Amino acid sequence: MAAPKTDALHTLAIDIGGTGLKALVLDPRGKALTERVRVETPRPATPRAVLSALASLVAPLPDYHRVSVGFPGVVREGTTKSAPNLHPGWAGFPLADTLRKRLGKPVRVLNDAGVQGYGVIHGKGVEMVLTLGTGLGCALFVDGRYVPNLELAHHPYRKGKTYEQYLGALALKAVGKKKWNRRVARALAQIDPIWNPDRIYLGGGNAKHLKVELPGHVEVTSNVAGLLGGIALWRA
Ligand code: BGC
Repeated sequence: MAAPKTDALHTLAIDIGGTGLKALVLDPRGKALTERVRVETPRPATPRAVLSALASLVAPLPDYHRVSVGFPGVVREGTTKSAPNLHPGWAGFPLADTLRKRLGKPVRVLNDAGVQGYGVIHGKGVEMVLTLGTGLGCALFVDGRYVPNLELAHHPYRKGKTYEQYLGALALKAVGKKKWNRRVARALAQIDPIWNPDRIYLGGGNAKHLKVELPGHVEVTSNVAGLLGGIALWRA
């Protein structure tokens, strides 16, 4: 049987999060063909536990030709280097290769904020994506080109805390929505003049709690974008 043309390929998009594992199938233009399916991230979130939870999660989904994965840590050429909110076992783990063998389809893996960004950017100028979820994701794009693995989360920020300790899910739970909103605004005022992006997009599971007034070039985006951006990994 002849291989399907690129414009007929379906992509399984997976988002590995600190709290949930999510997946859906995309059509060749990046539109969702299925509902998003989700399971809790297994704990401890070792590579073995996460891979087996993923295999069960995607088994009922319709057929696909290739796989895109957003991963919550640094990724280089399909190998994960870190995963602060998963497990130390991800340091140096060949995720793309292992998943390819398991699912029998080609796999590309990118940092989760990078994938999210591909789903929302316009592709012009300097665009920054910050994801507010279990961790704090950060991605930078220049004229649509991703600058990989910009890790803002674990930099010292205020009062001995890192950006992620100040803005992540644990912080939201500890200080409540009102104070967390003020923290987001203050962190933005700190980050914005470093890169001076033309636009900043705020995504991730906790972006829905944002009530604070944001500067004109900052917008809140849908969390589903975390999966829709998966199509971009196959563009080049
Ligand atoms: C990681 C980032 C990731 C973010 C969101 C952080 O702890 O260092 O690589 O993008 O969490 O998952």
